[in-house]
Amino acid sequence: MSRPEWAPYGVDLDRPNAARVYDYYLGGAHNFAVDRAMADQALADWPELPLIMRANRAFLRRAVRFLVDAGVRQFLDLGSGIPTAGNVHELARAATPDSRVVYVDIDPVAVAHSRAILGDDPCVVAAQADLRDPAAVLDLVRREGLLDLSQPVAVLLVAVLHFVPDGDDPGGIIAGYREAMAAGSYLAICHASADGQGDRAEKHRALYSRTPTPMTMRSREQIDALLKGFEPVPPGLVHMTLWRPDDGEDLPADPGNFPGYAAVALRR
Ligand SMILES: C[S@@+](CC[C@H](N)C(=O)[O-])C[C@H]1O[C@@H](n2cnc3c(N)ncnc32)[C@H](O)[C@@H]1O
Repeated sequence: MSRPEWAPYGVDLDRPNAARVYDYYLGGAHNFAVDRAMADQALADWPELPLIMRANRAFLRRAVRFLVDAGVRQFLDLGSGIPTAGNVHELARAATPDSRVVYVDIDPVAVAHSRAILGDDPCVVAAQADLRDPAAVLDLVRREGLLDLSQPVAVLLVAVLHFVPDGDDPGGIIAGYREAMAAGSYLAICHASADGQGDRAEKHRALYSRTPTPMTMRSREQIDALLKGFEPVPPGLVHMTLWRPDDGEDLPADPGNFPGYAAVALRR
C-alpha cells in the first residue's frame, strides 16, 4: 500500500495500530487497510465495539464539562488519539475561552493530524511522546510553557491505560504525574475491562498483540487501585455510561455491555 498524503514519513503501513483502529471504529478517515482488516476481525466477535468507543468519547465530553465547571483551565490529554469531532480543546474552550490543552500521543499519525487541525493555535500543543515516561512528558510540558503546573491541571488518561502493560507499572506511572500535579488537580480515566466478557475479551486482547501497543484489560478492583492518592468524585469508579449521564440521556439496559470503568478523581 502507498503512503497517503496525510500520513507522516516512516509510518508502518503494514502493522495495525490502536490509534487508527479506534479512528476507524469512530467513522474517521485516518486509517489504513491493515487497521480496517484488524478492526473488522474484532467486529465479527464484538459488533458493539463502535458503540463502546462512542460511549467512551461521550464520557470524555462529560468529564471535560465537569472539569471546566470545577474551575480547571489546563488539560494534559495523554493518549489523545486522532482528533475527531468534540476534541478536548473545542469542548473546554466552548465553555471557557482561556482553556489551554497539551495533547500527547505516541502515534505519529495522531500527532500529525492533531497538528494539522490545530494550525497555529497558541493555546493548544500536540506532542509525540510516550506517556509511560512521566518525567520526559512533564519535562516537555514545562518546556512548552503552555501549562503552569503550580496551578490545577486535569490529566486525562482516557482509553489509554489499557495499553500500558503491568510490567510497565501503570500505578507508578500515574504516581509520577500525581507528584507533579498541584492540589486541586484532577485525574480522569476510562479503562477497558474484561469483567463479564468471557472469551471475546481474550480474543480482543490477542488481536491487539499485533499492534505496537498490546492491550491489558483490568478488573474493576485493579483499575480502582490505579486511583491511589486521588479522591474520586461521585459517583466514583463506575461503568462508563453511568458516570454522570446527561439529563434525559437513554441509559443502556445493561451497563456491563460497555465493559470499561470511568472516574474523575481529585488530587488533594
Ligand atoms: C483508544 S485511543 C483513545 C483516544 C482518546 N483518549 C479518546 O478516549 O478518545 C488510545 C490512544 O492512546 C495512544 N497510546 C497508546 N499507548 C500510548 C503511550 N504509551 N503513550 C502515549 N500514547 C499512547 C494510542 O496511540 C491511541 O491514540
